[in-house]
Amino acid sequence: MPTPHIESKKEEIAKNVLMPGDPLRAKYIAENFLEDYKLINTVRNMYGYTGKYKGKEVTVFASGMGVPSIGIYSYELYKFYDVENIIRIGTCGSFNENIKLLDVILSSGAYCKSYFDELLDGVDLNFIQSSQELNRKIMNKVKERNLDLKYGKTITSDVFDLYCDDEEKFRDSFPDMNFLSVEMEAFGLFYIANKLGRNASCLMTVVDSLFDKRSLTSEEREKSLNDMIEMALESII
Ligand code: HPA
Repeated sequence: MPTPHIESKKEEIAKNVLMPGDPLRAKYIAENFLEDYKLINTVRNMYGYTGKYKGKEVTVFASGMGVPSIGIYSYELYKFYDVENIIRIGTCGSFNENIKLLDVILSSGAYCKSYFDELLDGVDLNFIQSSQELNRKIMNKVKERNLDLKYGKTITSDVFDLYCDDEEKFRDSFPDMNFLSVEMEAFGLFYIANKLGRNASCLMTVVDSLFDKRSLTSEEREKSLNDMIEMALESII
């Protein structure tokens, strides 16, 4: 049952999907965390892999960048492949002085000024919650393993904030809602999940910060990303 953007057969996609932005991260997760995995999508190089984690079938499918891209892939996976749960596993910037580089954040919901919801459904929402049920599963696993996880609201932006000429102005353009992080996809995923009655969560590793301009080493990044990937995988078994 191919769609305009996914060539997989229906039975090739699991009910639980992990969704990194980067197709090569999907490949990395399959190669390093899954057994018996198979490449199930190459359309536009938006790689999808299905394999097993501790015996449970899981698909890792990339979203690309931005709300329009994750909107398309999440819609097709939920609607045509009957996917139940999608956990985005991405990177983000810190939007709060207490959120440090390499912290891992679980999004309680996403704020966005995008036109996406209005075009799709004629509604104008600015904030949409993630799935409480799926969040609880993630939090329970995190507690069991004594890992540190921050929980709070995310800004989903249509621009990469670090490329704004005036970062102060960018920050001041959002309401005072105690946001923890800024990224570019969560709102699209949460909106589509809510519309179709499915579950979506978003885990993020903080890779840049307006409050700390230090560059991360690739080892630091990899360690934090691996922790996040494991949290997501553990929560679906
Ligand atoms: N802003 C938006 N998206 C991001 C960022 C950021 O600072 N870092 C990683 N993804």
